[in-house]
Amino acid sequence: MSMSEEEEAERRRLRRQREIEEALEVKSLRRIISAYLNYPDAAEDDVRRYERSFRRLPPAHKALLSHYPSKFQRLRRCISVNSFFIFNMLQAFEPPLDMSQDTDICENPHLENALDDHLDSGERNICPCEAASTSGRISFPQSDQASYGKSDITCKSLEGVNNKELGTESCCESGPGTCNACPGNNRDTDQAGSSDVKINNDEATPYSFADSNGNVSSSAHEWLDPSFQLNVPLVDVDKVRCIIRNIVRDWAAEGQKERDQCYKPILEELDGLFPNRSKDRPPSCLVPGAGLGRLALEISCLGFISQGNEFSYYMMICSSFILNNAQTAEEWTIYPWIHSNCNSLSDNDQLRSVLIPDIHPASAGITEGFSMCGGDFVEVYSDPSQIGVWDAVVTCFFIDTAHNIVEYIEIISRILKDGGVWINFGPLLYHFADMYGQEDEMSIELSLEDVKKVALHYGFQMEKERTIETTYTTNPRSMMQNRYFAAFWTMRKKPVTT
Ligand SMILES: C[S@@+](CC[C@H](N)C(=O)[O-])C[C@H]1O[C@@H](n2cnc3c(N)ncnc32)[C@H](O)[C@@H]1O
Repeated sequence: MSMSEEEEAERRRLRRQREIEEALEVKSLRRIISAYLNYPDAAEDDVRRYERSFRRLPPAHKALLSHYPSKFQRLRRCISVNSFFIFNMLQAFEPPLDMSQDTDICENPHLENALDDHLDSGERNICPCEAASTSGRISFPQSDQASYGKSDITCKSLEGVNNKELGTESCCESGPGTCNACPGNNRDTDQAGSSDVKINNDEATPYSFADSNGNVSSSAHEWLDPSFQLNVPLVDVDKVRCIIRNIVRDWAAEGQKERDQCYKPILEELDGLFPNRSKDRPPSCLVPGAGLGRLALEISCLGFISQGNEFSYYMMICSSFILNNAQTAEEWTIYPWIHSNCNSLSDNDQLRSVLIPDIHPASAGITEGFSMCGGDFVEVYSDPSQIGVWDAVVTCFFIDTAHNIVEYIEIISRILKDGGVWINFGPLLYHFADMYGQEDEMSIELSLEDVKKVALHYGFQMEKERTIETTYTTNPRSMMQNRYFAAFWTMRKKPVTT
């Protein structure tokens, strides 16, 4: 083969690889959108199940619970309102890819293997992370490939979000060890099959996507059309429910207590460590695993150039909507607690509404340069352009999402400036621990003592350390409240002495 033939073959191979990557990405995104769209049907199935149980009661018992049929109707109204919010959120979403493209290309296992090899080489998700000017809007670092959300929000490297989704470790009361429905948790993919949610295109659901007044939304996006939807496992719909709980944590007055426990100590620490925050040269702060973006926004409002990094599309679709599309505070109503009948003090507690967002993000006073960067933390911030860039890195309920926590610590150290600080808050509830039956899932599960030893090795010095008791996405009125005794520390990267 001549040189030019070889070059041409290589070009063709790379083009093919890109096509496969994109097709996989579209497939994954369709699945996530389908999970959101399946929410009303799955919730209706639950209500029907409650009704079936109720019908089986003997008449004397039924008589005691005569308010139940009206509770079921109230539940249906709540589901409609949640669905209305979800649908509006999806309508505002502008996928970074052509969603109508043919994804059959990635059905070939040989091609998928080829792609895996490519992924392993770590070439994806390189984020230049240049902070775009916000002028009161929230921006995502510009991508040459993937524009995310509205034109004011763009996001680099969302193509890496799909197959590698990890997700929230403890979105459920039961905690990550038992919850396989946290957004991005790969365990769920094994559970497809018997519990698949089937989209029924022929039958109108009692909900569609109507608001509480019965106004039905229609969509301009063809990818929201039922014909584009996939059958997704029920566990994917559970991730949507987890997102609803995360919305309360980050964007509702009801989440204030949790935010005071988790975010406030971090914000106070940043405030104390960077007392002279000049408007001309604000310090920079990275928040890996930013979830729905509230902490990153608060850090921005404190006078930092703040960047959230997140790799779950479930999270990113929702945070983008709240950060960029909210017109006023308390614009939307959701019913976050309707999906569990357990541990309720009363039906009214379970069926209470929550107004979101508690603040209007665009008027919150963000510092220019606030951005959200989509992609895997390891892949994005391993890029050489990230070395010694950040004044502070803040990890909140994040470090235990790692396959290899040592790698996370190494990267955090590398991307900090000399003398920069790492503030961490959270437990060590390793996300990939106990992944029975998935032998290839690496999981390095260090004790706190060993985490600190590793940090020392990478040049960190402990400055402050304490334990803080907190919850995570917990219903504050539930009879069950899981508590964490979270490690909170500030470490400084020792300046290099010459
Ligand atoms: C437990 S949640 C915490 C979210 C937020 N920091 C908070 O305190 O509410 C962990 C977040 O990290 C994200 N995540 C996990 N692994 C990640 C990775 N490798 N790169 C980027 N984000 C990741 C998850 O999608 C999830 O949103």
